[in-house]
Amino acid sequence: MTEKQNIDLGDADLYLTEARFDMWREWAGRDAIVWSEPGTAPSGFWSVFSYEDCQQVLAPTAPFSSEYGMMIGFDAWHPDRAGGRMVVVTDGDWHAHLRKIIGPFLSRQKASELESFARKEITTLLETVVDRGSDVAAHLAPALPASVVCEILGVPVEDRQRLIELTNHAFGGADSAFDKMSPDEAHSEILFYCHGLIERRRADPGDDLVSVMLRDARMDASEVLINCDNVLIGGNETTRHSIAGMFHALSTRPDFLDELRTDPGRAHIAAEEVIRWTSPAMHVLRTATEDVTVRGQLIPKGMPVVAWLPAANRDPRVFGDPDSFIPDRRPNKHLGFGYGPHHCLGAALARLEICALLEVLAGRASGVTLAAPPLPQRSNLVQGYRKLLVDVDWR
Ligand code: HEM
Repeated sequence: MTEKQNIDLGDADLYLTEARFDMWREWAGRDAIVWSEPGTAPSGFWSVFSYEDCQQVLAPTAPFSSEYGMMIGFDAWHPDRAGGRMVVVTDGDWHAHLRKIIGPFLSRQKASELESFARKEITTLLETVVDRGSDVAAHLAPALPASVVCEILGVPVEDRQRLIELTNHAFGGADSAFDKMSPDEAHSEILFYCHGLIERRRADPGDDLVSVMLRDARMDASEVLINCDNVLIGGNETTRHSIAGMFHALSTRPDFLDELRTDPGRAHIAAEEVIRWTSPAMHVLRTATEDVTVRGQLIPKGMPVVAWLPAANRDPRVFGDPDSFIPDRRPNKHLGFGYGPHHCLGAALARLEICALLEVLAGRASGVTLAAPPLPQRSNLVQGYRKLLVDVDWR
């Protein structure tokens, strides 16, 4: 059902309260396709919300492209400059080739190789940064994914804190807490850092991701750089909000850590539910490659359509009691990692981080309570936390 709303769904202020869930549920429930006038996006854009419609737009055979960009603001007339060079904004054979190169460094096997590293990091972090009234969104949550991604890219330990801060600035959304530097400046700094890393690998190659990309005959130096950036941002920005959200989720199930301690095998099922419930990737965008009809609405060639993943992940026709965190939820075929050819390459790593954290935490703590209401991040792209103060009940 097509709806013309006098509302710009790119406005980050819409996502600052829990009212966003009511808005999304209503539209998902009626399979709405909503038009946003030009505003945050220069040509305007269409939005879909239901599980089925998001799958339809993201499906492998759908007449949509990622190459013009995958965030609100891009379309055929205003393309992302990284299009056709960075894996997440590339289509077809070249996209498949980039996935083949990058994929093994983020695979399930890689995740299991990194498990003991992740557990060690988690133990240190729980000992040093989590106490009564700790802000897990500011401290623990960004540190774990950043360590894991830095390990994959071979970033030296002494540079890691700086990179975490830069990713906060670059992709922290339009939040005033990140005012010290503009997002664009922070992004340039990240690219500058990666450039140095590439030069070091060129001089002293190894078996790491950067060296393997440098050896690939089809990739030039700028493509190596831009894909390092993709892994850094993809690995940091979403995972940390799922980690912070995990504490939020646990506060709604006070008995769960005790249950998990006696049955640690349940951690991977709960980790999946953490990803559904938190859904940090708020939207993905596609551009129509031909005139296409979605729910009876003609989308002209070149126009963008946005799939709101948290809305699909709480579509009541697919997930019973969708607003509740149900750690044993099965089946749980959420779209948190996207759907179709661009399905998240780092999913195994994200699952590992959340699963290991749940297990280690269950061994040390019997519960989590919120010390203050969560403060959401102001963003239309990342559903996350600006501040999440928790009290952890240590055993
Ligand atoms: C792609 C979500 C963790 C690297 C994606 C996409 C989503 C997503 C929705 C699809 C984008 C699209 O369709 O346009 C998430 C969530 C995570 C997470 C919710 C954590 C909870 C990670 C991690 C890494 C990573 C840990 C790397 C270390 C990537 C890459 C892509 C991607 C490289 C591009 C894949 C492609 O275009 O073929 N992610 N991600 N992600 N993600 Fe993740």
